[in-house]
Amino acid sequence: MQTADIRRRWLEFFGDRGHTVVPSASLVSDDPSLLFTVAGMVPFIPYLSGLVPPPFPRATSVQKCIRTNDIEEVGKTPRHGTFFQMNGNFSFGDYFKEQAIAYAWELLTSPETDGGLAFDPSDLWVTVYKDDDEAIRYWKRIAGLPDERIQRLDKDTNYWSTGQPGPAGPCSEIFFDRGPAYGADGGPATDDDRYVEIWNLVFMQYQIQNVRSKYDFEIVGELPNKNIDTGMGLERVAFLKQGVDNMYEIDQVRPVLDRASELSGRKYGAVHDDDVRMRVIADHVRSSLMLMSDGVQPSNEGRGYILRRLLRRTVRAMRLLGVDAPTFPELFPASRDAMQDAYPEVAEGYDRIARLAYAEEETFLRTLAQGTIILDVAVERAKQDGAPQIGGDTAFLLHDTFGFPIDLTLEMADEAGVQVDRTAFDRLMADQRQRAKADAKSKKTALADLSVYSAFRAQCETTFLGYDALEAQSRILGIIKDGASVDRAAAGDIVEVILGETSLYAESGGQDADQGSIIGNGFDLEVLDVQRPVAGLWSHKAQVRTGEVAVGDAATTIVDADYRRGATQAHSATHLVNAALRDILGPEALQAGSYNKAGYMRLDFSWSQPISPTTRSEIEDVVNTAIRSDLPVSTRVLPLAEAKSLGAQALFGEKYGAEVRMVDIGGPWSRELCGGTHVASSAQVGLVNLVGEQSVGSTNRRVEALVGIEGFRDLAAERAIVSQLSAALKAPRSDLPLRVTGLLDDLKAAQKRIAEFESASLQQRIPTIVRNVDASGPVSVVVEQVEGIRSADDLRTLVTGVRGALGTDPAVVALGAIVNEKPVVIVATNDGARRAGFQAGPLAKEAATILGGGGGGKPDLAQGGGVDAPALPQALRGIADRVRG
Ligand code: SER
Repeated sequence: MQTADIRRRWLEFFGDRGHTVVPSASLVSDDPSLLFTVAGMVPFIPYLSGLVPPPFPRATSVQKCIRTNDIEEVGKTPRHGTFFQMNGNFSFGDYFKEQAIAYAWELLTSPETDGGLAFDPSDLWVTVYKDDDEAIRYWKRIAGLPDERIQRLDKDTNYWSTGQPGPAGPCSEIFFDRGPAYGADGGPATDDDRYVEIWNLVFMQYQIQNVRSKYDFEIVGELPNKNIDTGMGLERVAFLKQGVDNMYEIDQVRPVLDRASELSGRKYGAVHDDDVRMRVIADHVRSSLMLMSDGVQPSNEGRGYILRRLLRRTVRAMRLLGVDAPTFPELFPASRDAMQDAYPEVAEGYDRIARLAYAEEETFLRTLAQGTIILDVAVERAKQDGAPQIGGDTAFLLHDTFGFPIDLTLEMADEAGVQVDRTAFDRLMADQRQRAKADAKSKKTALADLSVYSAFRAQCETTFLGYDALEAQSRILGIIKDGASVDRAAAGDIVEVILGETSLYAESGGQDADQGSIIGNGFDLEVLDVQRPVAGLWSHKAQVRTGEVAVGDAATTIVDADYRRGATQAHSATHLVNAALRDILGPEALQAGSYNKAGYMRLDFSWSQPISPTTRSEIEDVVNTAIRSDLPVSTRVLPLAEAKSLGAQALFGEKYGAEVRMVDIGGPWSRELCGGTHVASSAQVGLVNLVGEQSVGSTNRRVEALVGIEGFRDLAAERAIVSQLSAALKAPRSDLPLRVTGLLDDLKAAQKRIAEFESASLQQRIPTIVRNVDASGPVSVVVEQVEGIRSADDLRTLVTGVRGALGTDPAVVALGAIVNEKPVVIVATNDGARRAGFQAGPLAKEAATILGGGGGGKPDLAQGGGVDAPALPQALRGIADRVRG
């Protein structure tokens, strides 16, 4: 029975019995207390707990789940998978214990031809919560189970909750007996490998609180309804029905295991440790694939960290199987092919998944090799010292420099039989966090000590009027000079001014501060910067241009309208680019930060690959189409929860108050929480011209754009260049690329021909030089300074050519030339000359000494050079003299 078949039977069985078939929810749970969907009931928690009226009285689903608390067990037991699917049937105050037991028994034991799962009743056992006599009665009556196959167990196994405050209840579990070959007699209470749990029926009727552990909590009351929540492990039933020994060998998982076996050349079933590794790989690849298809990306915290850990454990398991090369491009498609029928999102998102997964593998492979050496050395040292521990500093180094998650270090050390000083590691991590914090702080407070602002804030608050007006009437509430509160400031002073009302935007949310001025009776201040050092207080850094200003004076803030128009366009452009990125790259292209000011914007977002020029153009096209469509822009202040339910994008890690400002461009197309200033309709942005794309860190990319008139000016400048080129090359604009490529090709061909001519002309010089040979001694010698040589290479060609032309009689050739204004000598000897005791190296060296430099080479060919060009004839003579004796 294929996994898909079991799944179909399940949904049909309960569908036919009045259950609404609900599709699987995402692995990323909506419930903030849960990192992942850990059970089929998670999406139904609001109904089970009675917080929200259920839209249907009964439901059924096959839910994707992730549990990683038993990650170390994966591959070692037959049934621990980090990803698994839970078949569930749910009743929200409709049927209860008796009906739930009846349904379970019917589905399990009906023949296949009737849509059942055809288990032999004599193979099935059940457990019940210790005092649940009612359940025991039903099991006897409905299933006819004898007393000895019903076991009473305690809270640790037979009371179920998510481990968080919420709905819970006693449960009854159904087990399949694999037979004596798999373990001891005695039922599920004795051996959970032989007796495999396949189905858990939870009689969910209580509310729990003060959850200290899965088994230690307080029952604080009854739920409004008596509910049913059941869960059958789809993979477990599949492995029992497919006649294989564990969940890693079922049709949905096995293909990856086989691929790992092929890639490593190791046979599955031969060596126990290898088998475990292959099973780990099969499990983790599938889990990673499913997580990524639900939008999780590798990172260093939360869900992303768990994904990263799964990916890295996979890489490591492949290495332990002897494969050092990347394997994800082989393993992931195998898993995709096995999963895509049940989960189309896997195929739809595969390009993105592949990009992320393959990049993660490559990065980790690079560091793994280096990190492993460091760990090995530390392990050896620990063993030699007789110390059972690796220092926390090594674990920290591995984490900080090599990206080893601490769990990986712990595991690898454990395999090598040593401990890790976890306390020291944690301390180093805490120190690092502290340093980072201090660092961030010291960078921020270029402003004065915060206490002076806090003192003002205790007495007053600044109201920002600048969304609607460029000018605001106010009064000077405070002046700060060199960090201290003062009464007045005179022309030339640079001070910070505190006002009760302002139209000047303070830098925040990525938008730079407004430019403008503050004027009053007899004074005029130029605004240099505007910040919000503490919430609710604007500090206007300004230079007094004329007059004198004092606390208590009436003042008007005036925003530079041109600047503000530009800033507003740039901020709205940032939202447009953000929306376009999501359109084109997908929701995982999450904004990580931004900066904008008049004429310019940049946006950082999580993405690990370069953006191709084509994609860049697409983004630009979407943005400029949105501008052209003149989309309405609206802002609204509303409760945070409501904004989130409307799908407003919040910046990850940003703190928001209970009330937030939501900015829409084109309705929900671009919907962000934002306090910035924006255009009234998208057409006012004018133009967005993407000018750059680069990486910032390993997980983020940055796009930069010129906005409005600046965008136009940049394009105009580009056009001017193109026109010049067009005129110079006498080609229309559209022909330029072809023309330039053609020219480059011609140039290359011409250079090649020149090189051929030069080589030929060098060859032609050889006979002339050979004619000057002095053959009077036992070793002939040619020494000459040659003109018109462009490189030492050419000189070498000439020297070896002359040596060749001289034949086999003992001969030394030494030619000198001035190359790039420096003297060079190259000496060549033939066999005969070397037998007579002349080596090229020492001769070249001697000449080089005269030239004020150095030299050397092989006995048959050597080069010398120096700085003293006029000494070249002398250096060459020296060689001739030495050879002649
Ligand atoms: N919630 C229970 C479990 O996960 C039954 O669905 O086991």
